[in-house]
Amino acid sequence: MPELLRIDDLVVAYDGFRALDGLSWAVGAGEIRVLIGPNGAGKSTLLDAIVGKASIASGQVVFEGRRLRGLPESRIVALGVGRKFQAPGVLEDLSVADNVALAVRRRKGWLAAFRGSLEAGERERVRELLALAELDERPGRRAAELSHGQKQRLELAMVVGLSPRLILLDEPTAGMTRRETERTAELLRSLVPRHAVVVVEHDMDFVERLEAPVAVLHLGRLLTEGPLAQVRADERVREVYLGRRKEQAA
Ligand SMILES: Nc1ncnc2c1ncn2[C@@H]1O[C@H](COP(=O)(O)OP(=O)(O)O)[C@@H](O)[C@H]1O
Ligand SMILES: [Mg+2]
Repeated sequence: MPELLRIDDLVVAYDGFRALDGLSWAVGAGEIRVLIGPNGAGKSTLLDAIVGKASIASGQVVFEGRRLRGLPESRIVALGVGRKFQAPGVLEDLSVADNVALAVRRRKGWLAAFRGSLEAGERERVRELLALAELDERPGRRAAELSHGQKQRLELAMVVGLSPRLILLDEPTAGMTRRETERTAELLRSLVPRHAVVVVEHDMDFVERLEAPVAVLHLGRLLTEGPLAQVRADERVREVYLGRRKEQAA
């Protein structure tokens, strides 16, 4: 698999505290990769650093051969990196379909996205994304009427609508029911190999369904990476989770 993203000896510090402490990692084009680790391990900071939201003290983030360090977030998104945050960020007063349409048109810039009507190709893409997120039944309803899980799926559809080669997801199943969580795993699997997906998660049933390599972060470094079963059996992984909340135990 050709390399898509490479993290080289990355350091991100907050007031002298190294949230990322010399992290190196790589992601290939079109694959799913999972990041786990105890609270405070640096998982969200890594996603922040990739999209230009955290200031990098040293090291590099290389995406498709290009160094991202120092670029503004809008530029990084335009280069093909999409990120979904923990909290849904949909526009509640717009319809479900219009939220997706905005994402599809955003590549042209925000102003263009709000102006004019959709081209035929864009309309088709909106339909595809609504179907992907299982929101195609009543596309005209206001986003505010959606359940929490549906809003999460809508936001996922919006991130995919930006057509990023790399999609970063921070705890995408937070607050979802078991059934919604299972469907989200299927949805993510359907995104590859068109997109590469990096998922931060602590729901191990969900992680298992992704059937993807699992990287364990601890103290801002990569502790180990491998298939879920191997990572779960790793004595060092068990140790870093000791004393943590039960639902986080690997
Ligand atoms: N904006 C920030 N300012 C100061 N400290 C931060 C900030 N963001 C994260 N941290 C600290 O960096 C460490 C890693 O945080 P984070 O990346 O959120 O961990 P995780 O997502 O793995 O739970 C934590 O100790 C956290 O308190
Ligand atoms: Mg986090």
